[in-house]
Amino acid sequence: MAVENIPEWMYDESKTAGTDYNQTAEAAAYELRSRNQDRDAVNAFILDFLQLDKTKAVIDMGAGFGSFAMAAAEQAGRVIAVDISPAVIDLAKKLAQEKGLSNIEYHVAGFLTYEHEGPLVDAIVCSGALHHLPDFWKQIALNRMCAMLKTGGKLHLEDHVLSFEIDRYSEMLNDLIDRNKDNHDASGRNIMAVLMRDEFPTCDWIMEGMIERAGFTILNKKYGKTGFRGFYQCRK
Ligand SMILES: C[S@@+](CC[C@H](N)C(=O)[O-])C[C@H]1O[C@@H](n2cnc3c(N)ncnc32)[C@H](O)[C@@H]1O
Repeated sequence: MAVENIPEWMYDESKTAGTDYNQTAEAAAYELRSRNQDRDAVNAFILDFLQLDKTKAVIDMGAGFGSFAMAAAEQAGRVIAVDISPAVIDLAKKLAQEKGLSNIEYHVAGFLTYEHEGPLVDAIVCSGALHHLPDFWKQIALNRMCAMLKTGGKLHLEDHVLSFEIDRYSEMLNDLIDRNKDNHDASGRNIMAVLMRDEFPTCDWIMEGMIERAGFTILNKKYGKTGFRGFYQCRK
């Protein structure tokens, strides 16, 4: 959406995009940290659900440095990587170029402003990004993603979702920070403290309600055993 067309009531998603990702050094630091994770296994799990082939198109919303988009590019015909951070998209382009991948389209845009062009897509992946929006705007984002998908299309959504007993929040959050005491951003701040204080992880029952209200059926759901992560495989 062109800046001059953004209504004055619109949430400014660039303001809460995560301080980690809007600068080149921070984007690179995020990519380095994520090398400790088994990204290949996660991508294989998502791809197994999506069953892409060269006739299919997929959008990665909040794509980051493009770990999933690059894995999807090996299977799908059209891959669209959308992220609000120009620094992250620059890094994603560079990494894809190094791998010789040429079928990924990159868009610097957000959940609320990305305008999809061309046929509706077969699948959308959204991993670790929706918590950057407050709940009302998450609902708008989910509705918009549903509108970009073909009927029968699939959504893999994964994010910081709170499924623990809320009365135990103090103990649970202290434990979370403790478990992540060595997990800092480039400014030295505990990543999970920043997440809980400045970002918008939501409760499991709210997330499920929002997904269904957007027009999806939840086929599978799973919550992390520590109560801070939710995974949803859905169909439009
Ligand atoms: C934790 S990273 C996850 C990246 C990637 N999906 C992954 O799994 O590695 C969150 C990403 O969401 C992006 N982001 C934050 N707010 C956004 C918004 N409103 N619209 C699109 N992307 C957004 C950030 O720039 C960042 O790249």
